[in-house]
Order: sequence, then structure tokens, then C-alpha cells
Amino acid sequence: MAKRGERILSKSSKVSKASGPKGPSELGDVGNAEGVRITGRGRPLPNVSEKPGWDNATPGPLHLLGLQGMPRSELLEYLHLTAELAGEHKSNHSRGWEGTADSGTLKGRVVANLFFEDSTRTRTSFSIAAKRLGGDAADLISAASSVNKGETLIDTARTVEAMGVAALVVRSKQSGVAHSISLNVACPVINAGDGKHEHPTQGLLDIFTIAEHYDCLASFNLSGLTIAIVGDVISSRVARSAIAGLTTLGATVVCVGPTSMVPASVKSLGAQIDRDMDSIVERADALMMLRIQFERAESGGSSAGAKTEGNKTPGIASVREYRERYALLESRAARMKKGAIVMHPGPMNRGIEVDGPVADGPRSVILRQVWNGVLVRMAVMTRLLSS
Ligand code: CP
Repeated sequence: MAKRGERILSKSSKVSKASGPKGPSELGDVGNAEGVRITGRGRPLPNVSEKPGWDNATPGPLHLLGLQGMPRSELLEYLHLTAELAGEHKSNHSRGWEGTADSGTLKGRVVANLFFEDSTRTRTSFSIAAKRLGGDAADLISAASSVNKGETLIDTARTVEAMGVAALVVRSKQSGVAHSISLNVACPVINAGDGKHEHPTQGLLDIFTIAEHYDCLASFNLSGLTIAIVGDVISSRVARSAIAGLTTLGATVVCVGPTSMVPASVKSLGAQIDRDMDSIVERADALMMLRIQFERAESGGSSAGAKTEGNKTPGIASVREYRERYALLESRAARMKKGAIVMHPGPMNRGIEVDGPVADGPRSVILRQVWNGVLVRMAVMTRLLSS
């Protein structure tokens, strides 16, 4: 087997050298509901839906911006590398990390986490992954940054890049921020979740967890598997990345939920639609439960609705009705297909989209997803930073 990085180096060597940071932003002056400025003056923000989430043909560093449009071969690069790392690093919750010595991929290098939106799993796992690779991580927390003094997100990114970081990991409330930043810096940019658009490392870890459970880490051929994504799909960057990656690898993806959360347009992403949770629960090989994104509803951005019973919204009539029709209740979970698994990207609304005993039960791979998230982020940083 090729030493880790050899395949990566040969692939990455096709990427031309970075041309250096571009001048002041060529992009438009874009604000948002929170008053956060993304870019400086210039052209409007590109329509990210027209751009592939990956782009290793354009001159400049290799970024990971999304899974939509990513060729199967590219997807497999990340997944096979994750499998190699999984073979080297075994989980042990009681003793912590149990693996071989750091690969040194990031020795002496620092990755910057630019998180303009809250996170537990993604930010922490990127930090741990950087350290496992022999490097370090620096965190910019939006609430304590100069963004609050009016600095644009791109100026913020360029400022942190100027400190000499190896890569920028970007999380934002708005779609397209990681892409915009990638056009304005010379280092690799990793999208750690942008608005409702994409969350590619979450998509990769979801795929990896399914492939691991169904014992197909050699081929990642998911043909024959039916994966149900249940809930607030329209607000979910996790769903968009998962649908893209899973369908590329041959899985059938079925989105389940009310029309306000799973509109007909979801079909254009490559997924099927089913409104009957009781039917899908018996035939799905994995049930990926999504969180109702109350915070997006509160900022006017979601079809989802009430935090408390009786608070009617356009998205869902009530949490009680939502639970009755779509939640993974204990009674529903008892009718799941033999061997089928329960997934959730987190954070969970326990007792809303999934019952606590189901989330903690034998079918749940939720914490395995978290563990695999560290491996996936190690793989992504290895791939992007090995050249
Ligand atoms: N799944 C996920 O993105 O979780 P965090 O928001 O905690 O990073």
C-alpha cells in the first residue's frame, strides 16, 4: 500500500502554486440580518450554487468547499485516506486516543478555526485533528473578535492568514462565506458549514460511518442501501452534503418530512421524497435524524417553527404534531429494519426529533459519527496540506 500522502502528493502536485493573496476584495459588499459584513466593496457575491464545492483545477491551493458536484474519484480520495487513518487509530473512550505516533503532516504548522457561528463538534474535532497530525490550532471565536467592530469576514480571514497559518477552517451563518474567503487567500480553505449550503466534512463522516457499519470501507460502494434523512432538510447544510456524497456512491437517499421542511425541490438534489415516516422506518438501512433549526426560524430564515407546544408557525403546526408524524420515537425505532442504524449530526434536540433512549440505544452510531469526525478532519487536512 502506498505510504500515506504519496497518493495525495501525486494528486495535489497537479494543483498549481498559489498566486498569493489577491488585492482588496473583488466581491460585493454583503451584509446580513445580524449586521455582519462578509466582503468589502466590489462585485456581488458569486452565486455559490453555480460553483462546484470542490475546485482543484483553478490555480491556487486545494480547498474543500462542498460535496455537490465532487467526482466519485475525489470523494474516494478523502474516504480511503480516512480508512487508512482509522486503521492506525483506534478509539478508546476510557483511555482517550490510542494510535500510532503522529504522522507529522502538520508538524510546526497551525490551522486557524474561523468560527463565525457556534460549534461544539466541528471546531473541537478540527483542533484535535490538527494536534493529532503534529500541528496546532488557533481559534477565532466570532463573539470576541473584531467582526463586532465592523471588520468584514474576508478582512478577518486575510488578517489571520497573514499571521502565517497553514489553512483556514471556516464556519458561518451565511452561505458562500468559505467560498468567498477561498477567492481572497492563498492557503487552503475548509468549509466547516456555511449557512444552509454545505457541511462537507460532516457529509464525509456520515458516509464513512455508514460504510464502516455496512463493512464496505474497501469500495465505499453504497449501492443497495437506503438512507433516510428525516426532518428540516430545507434548512440543512448537513443534508445537502450528505445527499451529494451518498448518491455519488450509489446509495438511495429518501428525505422525509412535511412539505415545509422537505419541499419537492429536494428532488433536484438527487433525493427521493417520502412523507410517511412509519413506512420508511421499516425499510431504511440508516435513519439520519435532523435537528429542527429553531435558531434559523428565530432569525427569520427557516420554515421550521415552534420551540414550545402551541406556538404555531408556518413550518410546523406544533412540536407535538411534528413528533407524532416524524420523530424517531421509541415505538418507531422498535420497528426498524434488522441491523439498521440511527444517526444524528448533532446537536440533538432530545425528546423532539429523537427520543433519548433511542439516541443512547444499541442502534445509535451518533458518538461513532463524532469519533469518525476527527479521522475525517485529519484526512482532509492531510490531503489539502501534504503538497
Ligand atoms: N454537526 C455539527 O456541525 O455540530 P457542531 O455545530 O457542534 O459543530
